[in-house]
Amino acid sequence: MSNDLQTKQFHTEIVGNNQGSAAQMNEVKSGPRIIDPVFTLEDVSVSYGKYVAVTDVNLQIPSNDITAFIGPSGCGKSTLIRTLNRTNDLIPGASVAGKVMYHDADLYDSKASAVEIRRRIGMVFQKPNPFPKSIYENVAFGPKVNGRPKKSELDEIVEKSLRGAALWDEVKDRLGASALGLSGGQQQRLCIARSLAVQPEVILMDEPCSALDPIATLRIEELMMELKKEYTIVIVTHNMQQAARVSTYTAYFVTEVNPLGDLRTGKLVEYDETKKIFSTPSDPRTEAYVTGKMG
Ligand SMILES: Nc1ncnc2c1ncn2[C@@H]1O[C@H](COP(=O)(O)OP(=O)(O)O)[C@@H](O)[C@H]1O
Ligand SMILES: [Mg+2]
Repeated sequence: MSNDLQTKQFHTEIVGNNQGSAAQMNEVKSGPRIIDPVFTLEDVSVSYGKYVAVTDVNLQIPSNDITAFIGPSGCGKSTLIRTLNRTNDLIPGASVAGKVMYHDADLYDSKASAVEIRRRIGMVFQKPNPFPKSIYENVAFGPKVNGRPKKSELDEIVEKSLRGAALWDEVKDRLGASALGLSGGQQQRLCIARSLAVQPEVILMDEPCSALDPIATLRIEELMMELKKEYTIVIVTHNMQQAARVSTYTAYFVTEVNPLGDLRTGKLVEYDETKKIFSTPSDPRTEAYVTGKMG
């Protein structure tokens, strides 16, 4: 399906035909110029109750590429990545201000379908979280929820998704075995396969390697480089080398003491091409962080 068609169909499925303000063209105040962004964030702030966890975020995320969010613990990376598929909705008290556009649709439009959003924009978490079911059933779960595929179709989706996640060869002879018997790295690739099975456009990854050993980490990084040919990837990582290795764009966040109180709020300091962030960043705070003088 062409991107255009996909976008139009998305808009209709998510918010109906009423284009309204959602059709405004997407522009941001700063950062690299991204042609045809998948996401455009304008003045985005996320709060938990009255506490503002991250504020004033303006950035655009390119398609078929890898964008990294880095910064010290607590600066709002997880909070922000969750706004991209509305998983913050599931957290009591969480609220999002500003605008989060997905192509030309407003993700927070009152008519938007969170279910359809989460199908198109999948998420992989820090700790691999396979269901206590067989390898096959883990991958078949999403397609079964979304429709009633025939057994033969389901077999095909499961194989394709496991191949896409570079896991097929290791599990093809034990698809009926429990997913919990896999190693941590295999479980994480299974979670990636599970997200691929519902044919997403975007995969959000929140520190996907932090529970893995270096070899399993390398395999996930190699997999990401493969996946970006077909998918848009956003990764949160506390591992700067990982951001430098895999991503094309990097957003660096810090926490600042909120002038209205003593709580710290996350802010985007700089967003640019990864090679620039790691060689000649514009902001001295970014430089201090990437050279290890701070953080
Ligand atoms: N569910 C939540 N309820 C209340 N506060 C939260 C919740 N999740 C995160 N926070 C707070 O929001 C801030 C940003 O957290 P988070 O997004 O997890 O940061 P990071 O992923 O960069 O470490 C922190 O101060 C954290 O304590
Ligand atoms: Mg986090």
